[in-house]
Amino acid sequence: MLLSNQQLLFNGTYLPYQNHSQSTQSIGKHEDFFSHEIFMNITSKTSTYYAYFHYLKTKYKVFVKGPFKTWNDNILYQAFVDELKPFFGLQKIGIHIAKLDYKGKPLFYLIMRDFGDGAEHYPTKEKDGVKRIDKDKIPILQMNRWLRANDLEKHPEVLKQYVDILLFRQIIESSDTNNTNIIVNGNKVLSVDENHKGYFLEGKLYSHRPTKVCAAIVATYLKKNKTQISEQLKTWKKLWESQAFQQRLNAFGKTIFMQKVLENIEKLVIHHQQDQWQL
Ligand SMILES: Nc1ncnc2c1ncn2[C@@H]1O[C@H](COP(=O)(O)OP(=O)(O)O)[C@@H](O)[C@H]1O
Ligand SMILES: [Mg+2]
Repeated sequence: MLLSNQQLLFNGTYLPYQNHSQSTQSIGKHEDFFSHEIFMNITSKTSTYYAYFHYLKTKYKVFVKGPFKTWNDNILYQAFVDELKPFFGLQKIGIHIAKLDYKGKPLFYLIMRDFGDGAEHYPTKEKDGVKRIDKDKIPILQMNRWLRANDLEKHPEVLKQYVDILLFRQIIESSDTNNTNIIVNGNKVLSVDENHKGYFLEGKLYSHRPTKVCAAIVATYLKKNKTQISEQLKTWKKLWESQAFQQRLNAFGKTIFMQKVLENIEKLVIHHQQDQWQL
């Protein structure tokens, strides 16, 4: 495949071959691709940062997770479930996976679309000698921060997307569901940082409790919209009839996962009918 024709498609593919199979070759040195990095979180696990990604003469605004020392299923899982989101009426982030050299070693990175103005425009503050994002002032807020400034009940559009994300994360068996892994961009709500738990979550909507106020609003919403949510779950179950959906699963080699998705939706229907949500 000719490299010169390639753009970042943000469709879950690998760089540079875009074939959803594990990259075997690094495409170059980390420092040749990224500029203007600003840290979001600094954890001992992986670093997350806003940056520009220079790829084939184009400069992209991106959000980066990595480096990951070895290939692991969660790297593919994050890119894969992101591609499923539009089928569930959710906005996808748009992800690429890249193998790059970092300090002489080939490592994996998740490169995501940055919806904001770009790294140089974000408010920063200095902590421990490192310049990092001022989390309360960036345009794309974590839900826990958004909730401090807004009344969820007064934003029905946000509330609906938020609950849809909680349901989606049940269906795809995602761990780490909490209000820092759900972000608000204007009136769009986005789900991030999905990791595969590997089994059905039994209606337990959060892995870390939200505030009492937040939990109460979600519980009320689920009760008030019982019929509508039942119908929605039934519509989602019909996804297996969609060729586009099946093609997506096949492209990622995740056909078997589809069976689980369907089973989980069926289980969720029952949990919902019996009000068995754990909040
Ligand atoms: N695509 C993105 N665009 C903008 N901000 C993002 C994006 N992905 C994640 N973030 C922000 O960065 C934070 C950390 O990213 P996350 O994927 O949760 O990694 P981790 O929690 O493992 O550090 C998130 O809570 C969110 O605020
Ligand atoms: Mg996170």
